[in-house]
Amino acid sequence: ARTAAVVPAAGRGVRLGPGAPKALRALGGTPMLIHAVRAMAASRAVSLVVVVAPPDGAAEVKGLLDAHALPERTDFLVVPGGASRQESVQLGLDALPTDYDIVLVHDAARPLVPVDTVDAVIEAVREGAPAVVPALPLADTVKQVEPAAVPGEPEPVVATPERARLRAVQTPQGFDRGTLVRAHETVADNVTDDASMVEQLGLTVVVVPGHEEAFKVTRPLDLVLAEAVLARRRL
Ligand code: CTP
Ligand code: MG
Repeated sequence: ARTAAVVPAAGRGVRLGPGAPKALRALGGTPMLIHAVRAMAASRAVSLVVVVAPPDGAAEVKGLLDAHALPERTDFLVVPGGASRQESVQLGLDALPTDYDIVLVHDAARPLVPVDTVDAVIEAVREGAPAVVPALPLADTVKQVEPAAVPGEPEPVVATPERARLRAVQTPQGFDRGTLVRAHETVADNVTDDASMVEQLGLTVVVVPGHEEAFKVTRPLDLVLAEAVLARRRL
C-alpha cells in the first residue's frame, strides 16, 4: 500500500488578517506550508506530497519546496488550487498518480502535527477503515444557536449537545483512495472536512486520538501559540 498526502494550501487566511496567503506566512522563519509538508514527510509511509498552492502562487510554492530539503524517500508535486477548500482537495486528488491507494488530506494551516498522529491515521486506514480522523475532546461546552432575527440582536440558544460525545476534528484525515475519490464525485455541497463527505456516502468514519499541537492556525493568537510550540521544540 502506497501513501500520498494532499496538502491544501490555497486559502487566503482572511481570519488571520491582511498579508501573504496564510500558508506562505513564516513560523520560526520558515513558511507554514514547509512545516506542514515536513510533518507529512516525517512519516516513513508517505512517499509523495501533493501541495495545492494558491491559484496564482504555484511557481512560488514550487520554488520554496525546491529550497527546503525533504527526506530522500519523499517526492512532491505542486498544483494550483481553487476557490473552496473542497475544490482545492479535488484538484490535488486529480493530480495523484494511480499507484497510491491511501490518501491523507492535511491542512497547510496545521503545521505542527506530530508524526505519531500521522502514523496513527495511516495505521487505521491500513487496518481497513475507509476514513479516519484524528480528534480531541472539547474543553468548551458547545451551544447550537438560531441566527438572530435582526442582525446584531442576541442569538437564542436552541440546543446544548452533550459535551462528552463531541470531538474537535483535526487533520491529517486518512482515506482509502477509491472512497475519497467517490466522495468527491458524489457530494456537491460545500463542506469543511473531507470525512463528512464519506459520511454522506453512508460509510463509517472512525476517530483516532488527535494531538494538541495539531491545532489549526486560524486567528492571530494561533500564531503566538505556534511560535511558542516551535520555541519549546528547539530547547
Ligand atoms: N484551503 C485551500 N483552498 C481554499 C480554501 C482553503 O486549499 N480555497 C486550505 C487552506 O489553505 C488551509 C485549509 O484549507 O490550509 C484549511 O482552511 P482554513 O484554515 O479555513 O484556511 P483559509 O481558508 O485560508 O482561512 P480563512 O477561512 O480564514 O480565509
Ligand atoms: Mg477557510
